[in-house]
Amino acid sequence: MTSAKLKLGVLISGRGSNLQALIDACAAPDFPAEIALVLSNKADAYGLERAAAAGIPTTVVSHRDFPGDKPAFEAAMDARLRGAGVELVCLAGFMRILSEGFVGSWRDRLINIHPSLLPSFKGLDTHARALATGVRFHGCTVHFVRPAMDDGPIVAQAAVPVLPGDDANSLAGRVLESEHRLYPHAVRLIAEGRARVDGDLVRIEGAPLALDAVVNPPF
Ligand code: GAR
Repeated sequence: MTSAKLKLGVLISGRGSNLQALIDACAAPDFPAEIALVLSNKADAYGLERAAAAGIPTTVVSHRDFPGDKPAFEAAMDARLRGAGVELVCLAGFMRILSEGFVGSWRDRLINIHPSLLPSFKGLDTHARALATGVRFHGCTVHFVRPAMDDGPIVAQAAVPVLPGDDANSLAGRVLESEHRLYPHAVRLIAEGRARVDGDLVRIEGAPLALDAVVNPPF
């Protein structure tokens, strides 16, 4: 029997808690996507154990096996993904910058989750930088990937308040919880054909959101 579910390839480099959120979401019979392959650039990534425990095929393509040859590294990843029939690539804590060639060949079929409300705080150490800036809201973003780092049409965002007494760890924990809810939500929107790239934007079809204001600190 053929499956109508969208086939995901999840790219990881480490812990894989966002991968776990996708695994858990995909376990629901009505979820419109399934994970066809988990690919890590690190053989000791804990996320590989999570995938194996869920019976999901895994593969390792180590960048260290392709010293100074990023195109060959990416071609090896590309071959594994296509070989597994992957239709949407989900970066989930994948800590290598992808080149224009790879990004272009998966254009609008490659998404990333980033721990900030983009376009603020691209790059690393987002939680400490958010605290240092004094923003009242931080959060996470799922976006289609473009060649520039942490850039591309935004599919979905979740805001979390910065609370008095927060340090980078407590804030990171609150953001990570929101990541685990946001990533499956964004994948669902794409898999159901409700998130459509239109130039630099993603248009979402379906029910409009309620317009409740959230204010931090409260009135
Ligand atoms: C997540 O917070 C993810 O947003 C971040 O790495 C963490 C991976 O955690 N990604 C980036 O910073 C990419 N720019 P996980 O392995 O437990 O999912």
